[in-house]
Amino acid sequence: MSIDTRAIETHSTDNRRFKPSPEFSARARIGTLERFNEMYRESLDSPETFYKRETAELVFRKPWSALSEWKPPFAKWFLGAELNASESCLDKHLKTARRDAPAIVWESEPGETRTLTYAELHARVVELAAALRELGAKKGDRIAIYMGMVPEVVVGMLACARIGAPHTVVFGGFAAESLRDRINDCQARFVLTQDGAYRRGGVVPLKATVDQALEATPTVEKVLVYRRLGQALAPITMKPGRDLDWVETTKNAKASLGEAPEIVDAEHPLFILYTSGSTGKPKGVLHTTAGYLTGAHITSKYVFDLRDDDVYFCTADVGWVTGHSYIVYGPLSNGATCLLYEGAPNFPDWGRFWNIIQKHKVTILYTAPTAIRAFIRQGTEWPAKYDLSSLRLLGSVGEPINPEAWMWYHENIGRGRCPIVDTWWQTETGSIMLTTLPGVHATQPGATGFPFFGVEPEVVGADGKAVGKGQGGLLILRRPWPSMLRTVWGDDARYEKQYFSEIPGSYFTGDGANVDADGYYHVVGRIDDVLNVAGHRIGTAEIESALVSHRAVAEAAAVGRPDELKGQALVAFVTLKPGNEPGDAMKKALAEHVAQEIGKFARPDDIRFAEGLPKTRSGKIMRRLLKDVAAGREAQGDISTLEDLNVLAKLRGQDE
Ligand code: WT7
Repeated sequence: MSIDTRAIETHSTDNRRFKPSPEFSARARIGTLERFNEMYRESLDSPETFYKRETAELVFRKPWSALSEWKPPFAKWFLGAELNASESCLDKHLKTARRDAPAIVWESEPGETRTLTYAELHARVVELAAALRELGAKKGDRIAIYMGMVPEVVVGMLACARIGAPHTVVFGGFAAESLRDRINDCQARFVLTQDGAYRRGGVVPLKATVDQALEATPTVEKVLVYRRLGQALAPITMKPGRDLDWVETTKNAKASLGEAPEIVDAEHPLFILYTSGSTGKPKGVLHTTAGYLTGAHITSKYVFDLRDDDVYFCTADVGWVTGHSYIVYGPLSNGATCLLYEGAPNFPDWGRFWNIIQKHKVTILYTAPTAIRAFIRQGTEWPAKYDLSSLRLLGSVGEPINPEAWMWYHENIGRGRCPIVDTWWQTETGSIMLTTLPGVHATQPGATGFPFFGVEPEVVGADGKAVGKGQGGLLILRRPWPSMLRTVWGDDARYEKQYFSEIPGSYFTGDGANVDADGYYHVVGRIDDVLNVAGHRIGTAEIESALVSHRAVAEAAAVGRPDELKGQALVAFVTLKPGNEPGDAMKKALAEHVAQEIGKFARPDDIRFAEGLPKTRSGKIMRRLLKDVAAGREAQGDISTLEDLNVLAKLRGQDE
């Protein structure tokens, strides 16, 4: 990979610091820097002691005989231990006062509320586990979940965990093609879906998309369909012999069949989650049971300082890793009350999140910079109308948060009172790696923070040597951690190449970062061919392969350009085959084609036609130049190997 580190140093440094209030620290799970440092040192120097104590709240049926094994690039954690993740999230609480406390408070887009206590959530999960077992699902079978934000999606995930069947949740915004590829890659036997989901007042026809995807998925045997909207709003056809009604099937199943959790080995696959990389084919990131659960549990507890009386609202979709770790496994294993919201942040208006916070007395909010920037555009009058005094802690995730957005969040949502945790992590890391702790560290707009327990990061140059304070470089993780991905599903070679070949022996994140004089990490963004558009990870190669699958396209290159709202916007440069007319109609057709192939969220923001793309003499597309063109910058760096300088001039001409 050629690494372009030009932009890594040129971030905005913001030297404002906000100390945690003495009141917050006094009540926090960790309230002093001394205690944090002590625990951090222990997590690295005596990990056995650290993890033994910190996993005491999780249910292990059999303890581990060795904490970890590291045969680069393959790690194992909690060797010999046996457990079932759903016991830590559900059964454990049945013996305590949490039994009748709300596990999920669900608010639908139209505004209804449904609450499931831990006892109720447990019962639903047991029923579904029973139904799945009656259908023949067993340990190790893969189950795809294509649903919206309804309590049943959580029930679905935990029921899979209960029977030892790894789930693969596919975000409801993905198109049929993408769903099909994911199902086929992991050879799922079952699909859990719903008829349709509300989104911005309209209906997303999830079941119809499943039908389309399943035209070419030979491994799928049964589909369970949860009727969220009903036939009038979301008409569906049930395929006899394949499709089953969720409620009917679970009601008829013998619940006792779902009671006993499948006790699995610590390294048994818990889930596969597909994410974009630098090739056209998404990677199935594999997470295993004990290590992942440990990471999600400990980070939720300390970073969000979770307590029984909190109402915790994470606005992510369960289709992304944030939803897995910080709506399902982390909070539930801590016995938290999670607010689950079905719909769009601006439905019926831009006050929706603030209304939810006021109505349910939300105490912790975890959201993304893109959402915050969208709120900024709508004006402070929206949050100002609501009582947000219940909030005590704010979080940010998914992309770098610019200092302006940070300050707006701090002032208008936190009302100057709430610490903000800016959490850096990835689908692959499974849980938060860099952050501040809310009762411990002073926060700094635009800076992420420090390594969490057990995490040993470093910023290095291409030679793998640490760079100096303030200097930009590659963010790597020096040692394995419990919730790290174990491999790319079915492709150990890709796993090794992608994450462990750049800096041999260390995990390469794909991100550029620097550490300031006080040790704060600043993560600047991806330095590989992966974009982060509105908090969604998109591989440029995926966009390119979608574009060239259109009959009119000869060649395509996709790059990112800085965008005030989305962080990055997607710009595609396209060369058409002879006989095709460039113009607005073609732009629309190509954007629609990408939406059909991948999903609407991947539609390019800008498509530019070119007679040729700038290439090196060996025929490689010069992406760096295209990035400059897309951003309207003068080309920087070396262009001496450019095949045809006219091409560049012509691409530029389109700016005017
Ligand atoms: C990429 C991971 C983390 C779960 C949601 C996204 C970027 C994430 C931050 C942050 C700066 C961030 C990185 C990372 N990222 N959080 N706090 N500051 N950048 O998961 O889709 O796997 O994307 O998101 O570039 O590599 P993902």
